[in-house]
Amino acid sequence: MSEGKETVLVTGGAGYIGSHAVLALLEAGYEVIVLDNLSAGHPEIVKDVLKAELIVGDTNDRACLDQLFSTRNIIAVMHFAAYIVVGESVSNPAKYYRNNVTGTLTLLEAMIAHGIKNFVFSSTCAIYGMPEEIPMTESHPHNPLSPYAATKDTIETILADFDRAYGLKSITFRYFNASGADKSGLLGEDHHPETHLIPLTLLTALNKRECLYIFGTDYPTPDGTAIRDYIHVSDIADAHILGLKYLLDGGKSDVFNLGNGNGFSVKEVIENARQVTGKKIIAHESERRPGDAPILVGSSYKATHILGWKPQYPDLNTIINHAWQWHQKRHG
Ligand SMILES: NC(=O)c1ccc[n+]([C@@H]2O[C@H](COP(=O)([O-])OP(=O)(O)OC[C@H]3O[C@@H](n4cnc5c(N)ncnc54)[C@H](O)[C@@H]3O)[C@@H](O)[C@H]2O)c1
Repeated sequence: MSEGKETVLVTGGAGYIGSHAVLALLEAGYEVIVLDNLSAGHPEIVKDVLKAELIVGDTNDRACLDQLFSTRNIIAVMHFAAYIVVGESVSNPAKYYRNNVTGTLTLLEAMIAHGIKNFVFSSTCAIYGMPEEIPMTESHPHNPLSPYAATKDTIETILADFDRAYGLKSITFRYFNASGADKSGLLGEDHHPETHLIPLTLLTALNKRECLYIFGTDYPTPDGTAIRDYIHVSDIADAHILGLKYLLDGGKSDVFNLGNGNGFSVKEVIENARQVTGKKIIAHESERRPGDAPILVGSSYKATHILGWKPQYPDLNTIINHAWQWHQKRHG
């Protein structure tokens, strides 16, 4: 018999976006348990900064999940846990299908067995593939171009089937480029390996890297470099609270983009980072990478109108400023 206060289980809560969601949940008054296998997570962030309960465990461990769900009063699961490196997913797809798809399936089966029916899922705009329209809406065709993106697309299919068959209610968020850091500077992005432009730029500013590379300068964009939609991680976390409340209030399963609606080019990001940091930041121009779209910008009209989501930090300068505060504390 489960006991105690109503609790939200956050898988991957020791990671970048999950840790910001834990903060938002705690601030909104929820009880939280983090489940993270620490393959990429930072336990000290959960224990020392967030002061939340951390269970070191894996979504593929059914016995661990059964123990949790039968002893704690878990009303919903926010599922961030995944492997996320696109290139590695191409060279080692089995690792990604095993962790992302099988891990999620194990988690969902355990939830259903214990009568837990509310699920908030981290998907990605990468399921759309090359854009056929800009901004991309949720009805854009799916064409995942990597095993990583395919794992997310497969999970979305599983969620639709599980709602029909078992009544599992889910909110799926398709993030564009998660970026920035909590305004306190105590949480932020620390991936190993780091593949995202803003942290790579700031690590270069801190002399942790010699330089960075601009992949493609001949795209059909105003300055020739690729344009992406950067969405502040705290705004993503806020959307998760709204999605959770929507489900707890009896809302139906749905899928929402989370993007800024504004695109910024690689050169704009680097230039802005030079201004924020006051550092030179050496950037070399290089060839386009295969599979990179010239422009990826999402429409978040649906999340703003159905969930009432309103990003607080849409401007690039604030995103980079917050990320810089974190990077200086973490690496300076
Ligand atoms: N960062 C982005 O821009 C972005 C964009 C789109 C979607 N997403 C999705 O958001 C989620 C979070 O991304 P992130 O950037 O915070 O990644 P992250 O690597 O920082 O966090 C993922 C966390 O999950 C944990 N984890 C991985 N597999 C696990 C398992 N089987 N069991 C338990 N814990 C496990 C890791 O230790 C890590 O703490 C992922 O699902 C990712 O696919 C991220």
